[in-house]
Amino acid sequence: MSDIKSTNIYWHEGEITKADRERQNGHKAVCIWYTGLSGSGKSTIAREVEKKLFEMGVKTYVLDGDNIRHGLNKNLGFSPEDRTENIRRIGEVAKLFVDAGMVVMTAFISPYKADRNQVRELMEDGEFVEVYVEADLETCEERDPKGLYKKARSGEIKEFTGISAPYEAPENPELVVNTTEETDVEKNAQKVIDYLISKGYIKNSN
Ligand code: ADX
Repeated sequence: MSDIKSTNIYWHEGEITKADRERQNGHKAVCIWYTGLSGSGKSTIAREVEKKLFEMGVKTYVLDGDNIRHGLNKNLGFSPEDRTENIRRIGEVAKLFVDAGMVVMTAFISPYKADRNQVRELMEDGEFVEVYVEADLETCEERDPKGLYKKARSGEIKEFTGISAPYEAPENPELVVNTTEETDVEKNAQKVIDYLISKGYIKNSN
């Protein structure tokens, strides 16, 4: 999918820059990239952080695995190639949101280190915050909110992350949120908010 087929196209720069938008919004633009096993709590934490940011007046939006696969990426499955393309497209979409001056959050398993790093490369320094939502496989399997681990164990679903497909944990994520150790969603979300404040992406008073 990496073949470049679009030629004779030119990048148009508008007069309004990302810096202008950041100034108007009163906060930095950033992509918060949650990665972790299915059932680890990525979407739940992202939604909680979204609520908190919204209440603080921060312009924010969540791109969520299951939702994006209903539309933009409905032609992609779960082979390694399709997952790579899934993440590539989300990375490009996230970059547009960052360019629009927003705090965009993505909740995808994104199991391959190389795919995540490619998205990091797309962004400018400091614009990609990788959050490892860590949970033991046993914990995720016990939670099994969609009954998918059961189907994966019985062989009904093939190439299921953690069971029959790999998950490569981040080595140097900006932040780790361990949902096996801390099950309180609000506290876990607050960790992300605290990180964003401590690094100057948003202000306490936003
Ligand atoms: S990713 O690997 O390409 O990043 P993504 O986050 O978009 O995955 O989608 C994962 C969601 O799809 C899971 O939460 C689960 O609900 C569903 N799913 C269906 N089949 C699989 C599978 N084989 N492996 C992992 N998740 C699957």
